[in-house]
Amino acid sequence: MLLNFWVLLLTVNCNAVNQVPLAASDEWNLKTFPSPNATGHLVFDTVSSLLQHWPNTKHHNGHTIVTGTIPTGTLLYHGRNDPNIPSAREWAATDSEFARIFCYSDTSVSCWLLTLVVTRPLRLLYFDGSSAAKRPEGPMDTQDLFTWGAVRPERATRAWEYKRLDRLCDTLGFDGYVRQIYPSSSRRPQLTDTHFRMQLGLLVLILGSEVMLCSFTDGVQTQTLARLEDEPGFWHYEYAFIHSSTWHDHYPGETRIHLDLTHLVSLYDTALAPSLVSSRYGQARRDHRVLGIDERDARAVLARVQAIPLHPSSSGIDWQALFHSIRDRYATRLEALQVVLSENSPAQRAFVLIQTLLAPYRLYSAVVPPPSRSDTAWAAPVFRSCATAHTLFAESESIQATLTASEHLLLTAARETNREICRTLVEMWAEGVISSLSDPRLPRKWQEEVKRLMDWLGWDAWTKCRPACVFPVRVPFAL
Ligand SMILES: *[C@@H]1O[C@H](CO)[C@@H](O)[C@H](O)[C@H]1NC(C)=O
Repeated sequence: MLLNFWVLLLTVNCNAVNQVPLAASDEWNLKTFPSPNATGHLVFDTVSSLLQHWPNTKHHNGHTIVTGTIPTGTLLYHGRNDPNIPSAREWAATDSEFARIFCYSDTSVSCWLLTLVVTRPLRLLYFDGSSAAKRPEGPMDTQDLFTWGAVRPERATRAWEYKRLDRLCDTLGFDGYVRQIYPSSSRRPQLTDTHFRMQLGLLVLILGSEVMLCSFTDGVQTQTLARLEDEPGFWHYEYAFIHSSTWHDHYPGETRIHLDLTHLVSLYDTALAPSLVSSRYGQARRDHRVLGIDERDARAVLARVQAIPLHPSSSGIDWQALFHSIRDRYATRLEALQVVLSENSPAQRAFVLIQTLLAPYRLYSAVVPPPSRSDTAWAAPVFRSCATAHTLFAESESIQATLTASEHLLLTAARETNREICRTLVEMWAEGVISSLSDPRLPRKWQEEVKRLMDWLGWDAWTKCRPACVFPVRVPFAL
């Protein structure tokens, strides 16, 4: 069955290649940059970053709203400094290390840890970004749309938390809301603007995922309530939490929450929220906001979320795997290419790397006989082969008919992202084929191109300490 499927794909692919005159089509012009207003790469990156701490800290203003479930048997935790089990709506954490930092207040140090177990699948709404960060500059924008019907930055405070939870629970009928938090309290040094904490030469990010539960009894059950011994106060008083935070930094992130990408809603969807195109124009990605959305678009977003059915659609496409297969192909090797190009060496080594990156798409017929043209238009068939590799299967009418509106958005995101990667690489490769690799202008030009591409993609894999950070396991103090 599987084999037949692939044979079918190959057939589709060959037919398409035979039918369309390649180089003549402007569609495969290697000089055409993506539109500055295109958002496919932003959808691609936000969707492939869902439920992962690191990318959602780097870009803390969320743009995605997606339903998910927490399966039966999942444990959730709530920490407090008294033995009272909450009867009303409250927060729960997916890791106990995160929950117990809320045990402590300025007046009390006794720690009661409540462990809950999920007794039926909980249906949740997830807001991406650092959506529990009570800061006015954007992390709560998407929630605001659902809570107040408009973005209200002045309500990004603790004082509004329970009103917010009540509104969300009463209006949309989910069992709860999933958010990512970087907590701040009087006992914690404030995070800097970039939310990095450079401490003792170590890069420390402290983050957690929380589930704001609409009921502490319906769908969850108390497993234990226990007073715990104090945590050791060395290396840092939140040592265990710092560790637990890193478990979910990168893909697959928080695996206990299963998302329904087939009904995902993105504020980067320019068909759904066209009013945001102009407010994003010229802004750095970190400053993209939902503030500025017009009333019509805000209503459309609400309507889309209210119409999300209980179960995922049945196209059967694993979008997360598809997105990550593209990321896997390019993330490390683009970084390697950047390093090689920064070494001030001739273009040969970089060219070899580019050849390997494009290996499955470098058609024999494109280079034999050797291209005689001094421009790179001859490489269009290679560009096309690379750019369509991951999404061609979904262009067929039978698959198109099964896709939801959200899946069309995801398909476009994969297509646009992969296309720009291929365009950049194929252009460099084609230049390498027709130029002298000892020309010193080539590596300089390629270096700029690779930087532009990596900035445009904005993947979290590339935001890290160089050289690598020391993992926070050592105890730097004399005990
Ligand atoms: C991008 O959006 C801005 C703001 O809406 C608009 O002025 C500009 O013409 C758009 N550019 C393209 C290429 O569509």
